[in-house]
Amino acid sequence: MLVGGASVRAADAAEPLKDKSPRLIAPAASTGTGLLLEPALTLPEFTRERFAAAMATVGPEKIQRPWTHPVVTLPPHPRADAKGLTEAEVKAYMVEAKRLFSRGEAVPLSDVGLISTQEDVIRRPMLNHIAAFSNAVARVYLLVQKTSTDEHWAYFSIVQDLTVTPALDYYAELRKEGPKFEGTSCYKCHSSGPLAIHPAREDLVLDAPLAAAIGRHIAEQPRSQFVFPKDSPKPPTGEKLTLKFCAKCHDDDGDRDALYQVHSHPIRVLVDFGYMPPNRRLKPEEIAELKAWLAKKP
Ligand code: HEC
Ligand code: HEC
Repeated sequence: MLVGGASVRAADAAEPLKDKSPRLIAPAASTGTGLLLEPALTLPEFTRERFAAAMATVGPEKIQRPWTHPVVTLPPHPRADAKGLTEAEVKAYMVEAKRLFSRGEAVPLSDVGLISTQEDVIRRPMLNHIAAFSNAVARVYLLVQKTSTDEHWAYFSIVQDLTVTPALDYYAELRKEGPKFEGTSCYKCHSSGPLAIHPAREDLVLDAPLAAAIGRHIAEQPRSQFVFPKDSPKPPTGEKLTLKFCAKCHDDDGDRDALYQVHSHPIRVLVDFGYMPPNRRLKPEEIAELKAWLAKKP
């Protein structure tokens, strides 16, 4: 359905050339709030060399590609006036993203992700290649992922349908037989669409300016709503986070969707590592309030 080839090269992107050196993502450092359920992982045994070698097992020609624009422009959608993409169209975008990556025509950033690595059930480097694509109707993301000890890379995608308001987010694992829509398992971290990039360590990212540029593209995403497929429905959310110092941005009508108890893992990590709230550190009494909220039984 989508036309591939020359028209999708990053260098051909229609948007003007943006600043290639945006402010880099602040390196991850635990601020010792006591919010983490396990001690913060620093991965001393995982050197830059081991990281680079592990990343290249996906095929060195697919990654660390020269770029002028962090988002690869996709050809125009065949139904220019579409109001709501069909599931088949969403899946076609996901398959196209994987195809472009496999042909070395994506612009992936490669990192060890902070949030997943710190998860108490993973506790080992989670290797990510993340690429972004877009046209007038969709923002498409590809995640190529494995843990440092897995043998094979797995493929995941998020497609934001921009033809409706709010935009709709579709999540899928890309299996051999094709994309399989997922919901329950993705929602516990992806509360409001794609997540900003947070490398676990300053040296565990291959192209820091690209990570920052993709992170900025993600931060500029529209307000969107999660689409749960029937066989992977919305999980019980638990109580809504209404503490003012979070909910002034994370609310039903805020910049980002409301957060619930089901999101406690990314909440613990992003606050402990000082990324949330974005512009300041929480005061000790605010940390205590957040801790008390997190300790409530769902
Ligand atoms: C444990 C938390 C967690 C879960 C569960 C999770 N993700 Fe993610 N995902 C992340 C984080 C964190 C990032 C950004 C990683 C980074 O900084 O490199 C991410 C990135 C992505 C990206 C790249 C675009 C973006 O958001 O940055 C895609 C695509 C993606 N995830 C798809 C999925 C899908 C599909 C599922 C469900 C099958 C899922 N994820 C489940 C944490 C999670
Ligand atoms: C000034 C607005 C603002 C405040 C206040 C704020 N956040 Fe955020 N938050 C954001 C934005 C914007 C993003 C997405 C971009 C990013 O991750 O940098 C985000 C992302 C997140 C995410 C990842 C899920 C998502 O929506 O992308 C979590 C979890 C989160 N914030 C938790 C918190 C918690 C907990 C607090 C309170 C301690 C808080 N935030 C306070 C603006 C805010």
